[in-house]
Amino acid sequence: MGLTFIAIKPDGVHRGLVGEIIARFEKRGLKLCALKVVVPEKAIAEKHYEEHAGKPFYPGLVDYLCSGPIVAMVWSGKDVVAVTRKMIGATKPAQSEPGTIRGDLALDMGRNVIHGSDSDDSAQREIKLWFKEEEVCSKYVKADRMWV
Ligand code: TYD
Ligand code: MG
Repeated sequence: MGLTFIAIKPDGVHRGLVGEIIARFEKRGLKLCALKVVVPEKAIAEKHYEEHAGKPFYPGLVDYLCSGPIVAMVWSGKDVVAVTRKMIGATKPAQSEPGTIRGDLALDMGRNVIHGSDSDDSAQREIKLWFKEEEVCSKYVKADRMWV
């Protein structure tokens, strides 16, 4: 079962969207494996978004991520990276479909509420960046997997 890194960005926390976002992933059947509230240090935010270093939006993006507490999480489940990316919706607001988190809750690419890893490799890198190994509890069995 794969793992992914999800972060509710400062605007999502500030707007009180944490419960709604977590509920969507839980109801989908994904398993919460780690969670913490943290104001990101600049060095970690820079590393998190290092693939975008040098792009015009990079400095603002890093400052935005560090502007307040985020909810950093690890989720697991079948095809979790693809499933969560689909649930999050497209990066460009005009392309994020209704029913997705961004399509329902965001209108501004610079304040788009949530981050999700875009591949298994990014997920591994990001989980390692934000969490210690012992903070990730991926072994327990969720009750709803025993229904049938
Ligand atoms: P990206 O990794 O392309 O998007 P996603 O979050 O969907 O994986 O970009 C990271 C964040 O950078 C994105 O959530 C919003 C911001 N961003 C901009 O502000 N301007 C841009 O042109 C792009 C591509 C992204
Ligand atoms: Mg990305």
